[in-house]
Amino acid sequence: MKIGIFGGSFDPVHNEHIKLAENIINEFSLDKLIICPAFIPPHKIGQTLSDFDDRYNMLKLAFKDCDKVEISDFEKVSKGTSYTYLTIEHFKNVYKDSEFYFLVGTDMLLDFPTWKNPDKILHSASLIVTSRAGEDQKKAIENYYDHFSKKILFSSYNGTNLSSTKIKTYIKLSIDTTEFLPSQILEYIEKKALYKSNNYYIHVKNELPQKRLRHTANVIVCAIKLAKMIGVDIKKAELASLLHDAAKYKSTKDFPNFKIPSFIPKEITDKVMHQFLGAYVAEEILNIKDEDILNAIRFHTTGRAHMSDLEKVVFIADLIEEDRNYPHVDEIRQNVFKNFHEGFSFAVTKLVEFLGNTSEEIYPLTIECQKYYN
Ligand SMILES: [Fe+2]
Ligand SMILES: [Fe+2]
Repeated sequence: MKIGIFGGSFDPVHNEHIKLAENIINEFSLDKLIICPAFIPPHKIGQTLSDFDDRYNMLKLAFKDCDKVEISDFEKVSKGTSYTYLTIEHFKNVYKDSEFYFLVGTDMLLDFPTWKNPDKILHSASLIVTSRAGEDQKKAIENYYDHFSKKILFSSYNGTNLSSTKIKTYIKLSIDTTEFLPSQILEYIEKKALYKSNNYYIHVKNELPQKRLRHTANVIVCAIKLAKMIGVDIKKAELASLLHDAAKYKSTKDFPNFKIPSFIPKEITDKVMHQFLGAYVAEEILNIKDEDILNAIRFHTTGRAHMSDLEKVVFIADLIEEDRNYPHVDEIRQNVFKNFHEGFSFAVTKLVEFLGNTSEEIYPLTIECQKYYN
C-alpha cells in the first residue's frame, strides 16, 4: 500500500487542506492518506490551540465523503509532545510492508534539519513537498540538500496562501469566511463558539467599519507571519496590529485628555494623528501598558529612527497586507520575505519616494526613519 501522512494543527481545517489532500492522493496514487492533527505541535507550544477533540471532529466532518482519508487520533492517544518520527514509526507497525510518504510545506522543509530525528523520518518515509502561491522554495531545498541526500518529491499542486490564522482572525472580527470553509465546519465553529473575540477584538469591531476590519485582519495575519519569521513575540504582534487603526475614525475632540506627546512636532496632519490617538486608546482605554506594543501602534504610519522589531513588523504588515495594491508593493513583499530588515529599509525608501510625488508634506518622523535606515 502507498500511504501518505499529513500532519498539522488543523485549527480549523479549511478548503485549501481539502483540495491539497485530494490532489496528493491522485498525483501520487495513494491508497490511503492519514491525517494526524497534532496534539501539541512542538513549534506551537505557547500559542493557543483549540481543543484536540474539536480539531479532530472538524477533520472528520470535512473528509466524511472521502474514503481514502483516515483521520487519526494517534497523537492524542500517545500523549506527550508530538514528534513526527514516532508517528511514522507507529503507522509502519500498523500497516506493515507499506510505502510511506510524509507531506511537508515549504516552511516545514526549511526547519526539517532541526526536527527530532530527521534521519529516522527519512529512513521510514519519502518527503512530498507542497507549495503555496508565490512561495520561493529555493532556500528550503538548498538547506535540505546541505544536510540530507535522500531525494524529495514535489507536488505539482500550487495552493493559495489561505491559512488557519486568517480564518481565525476573520471569525474573531466577524468577517465572512464562507468562501474558505465547508458549511458544516462553519456550523461546528458557531455551535461550539470557537475562536471567540476577546475584549480587544470586541472594541475594534465596535469602532471600525467592515472595510477597515478586513484591512485590520489582513495586517494581523501578515504581522503574525513576519513575527514568526524574525522571532518577534506573536501575541504582541497580534495585539499591536489589531489595535493599530483603532482610532482611524476618531479626532482629538473625542479625547479631551489626549495630549500631543512632547517629543513630536506640534503640527500633526490628520493622516498621521490616528497613530498617536490609537496608542492613547490602547493605553488609557484598553489599559495596555507594554511600551513596545504602544510604540508599534504609535509609529505605524510614520515610522521613526531606532524602531524595535515589533514596530517594524506592524509598520510593514500595514504596508503589504494582501489587499494592498500600489506600484512596487510586490517588490516590497518579495524583499521583505527574502530579508526582513533589508526589505524594511527598501519599503521606507519606496514610501518616501511615493510621498515625494504627492502634494503632501512628508512627516518629519518618516524622513528621520528613511535617513536612519538607509
Ligand atoms: Fe493606520
Ligand atoms: Fe492600517
